[in-house]
Amino acid sequence: MIEIKAVILSGGKGTRLRPITHTSAKQLVPVANKPILFYGIEAIRDAGITEIGIVVGDTASEIRAAVGDGGKFGVRTTYIQQEAPLGLAHAVKISKDFVGKDRFVVYLGDNLITDGVAGFVKQFEANAPNCQILLAHVPNPQSFGVAELDGDRVVRLVEKPKEPKSDLALVGVYMFDESVFEAADAIEPSGRDELEITDAIQYLIEKGRDVRYQIITGWWKDTGKLQDMLEANRMILGRLETRIDGEIDAKTQVDGQVVVGKGCRVENSILRGPLIIGENSTIVNAYVGPFTSINYNCEIRGSEVEHSIILEDSRIVDVGGRIESSLVGKNVVIEKHSRRPRAYKFMVGDYSRIELE
Ligand code: TTP
Repeated sequence: MIEIKAVILSGGKGTRLRPITHTSAKQLVPVANKPILFYGIEAIRDAGITEIGIVVGDTASEIRAAVGDGGKFGVRTTYIQQEAPLGLAHAVKISKDFVGKDRFVVYLGDNLITDGVAGFVKQFEANAPNCQILLAHVPNPQSFGVAELDGDRVVRLVEKPKEPKSDLALVGVYMFDESVFEAADAIEPSGRDELEITDAIQYLIEKGRDVRYQIITGWWKDTGKLQDMLEANRMILGRLETRIDGEIDAKTQVDGQVVVGKGCRVENSILRGPLIIGENSTIVNAYVGPFTSINYNCEIRGSEVEHSIILEDSRIVDVGGRIESSLVGKNVVIEKHSRRPRAYKFMVGDYSRIELE
């Protein structure tokens, strides 16, 4: 049994995913019909860690309802309330009582690492540095926290550098011993008024602590934005194996890897995988194309949907053109009427985005 804990950060503002995050936690947006957060909890469990602290903010009750005591994942959860999204290092700071003297992994609850973290955690245990970060080669380091290295040591971290010294971006998984609490206490809020985790790690470097890195070669994504969410969905759907539990009539054509949940009814449609359809959904006279996740209790009728995520209880009916690269929230209705006057009618929340052809 590994004697380290994990802290998953599931608070935050989620401004880049509005309006979904007005009503829901972004960590609970499903990728292939499973909340992103669940992939993180499973990755930590699969690394042999069973004690998980979950930092929560305004969406605490929703996260608690989804994750519970962790029993269904084979872990134990402790919820840590953050009074406001004051930064990643602030979230770490308030985890001090939960962590105690143990070494721990900090995992950003909206990150997805398809090959897990078990190997990295093992290395951290074996080498026992004060801090270990994960880095990934990226084509656009200007958009990330970037590490400058000297041999096997990290010498500097720079947030979104204009002229990056390397293409190695910080991945949303960090490992610490208790020295990070001293760092989190010492640093000042940044220009955006947050306690930055990069500043805390930079503090450790400047104090001569042992800060190491590992480079991740597998697929990784920070899903804070719509395009990233769709990409994560694509990645996970690509690993699906066909499973049809619902009813599909003889006029429906099924190509590729397709998962259709229990209680679904599919009539006179084309299902072209990889795609997943959650339980009790109805697909009639429709095309559901590759890289699409349709959640439970949805209805797609007389419409075409591709490369999209549709959340539960939503209806897409008689839409003329194809819907693609979209994230549709819960209980949404998108419907085309033939009655007059012919006009677009909307009831859309703040920060919604609609693109018409
Ligand atoms: P971010 O995606 O960096 O921040 P955010 O959630 O506020 O989103 P946006 O930039 O779109 O407004 O956060 C990474 C993860 O850490 C995410 O799961 C939210 C979580 N988090 C906290 O738990 N507490 C915090 O104070 C912050 C800033 C983030």
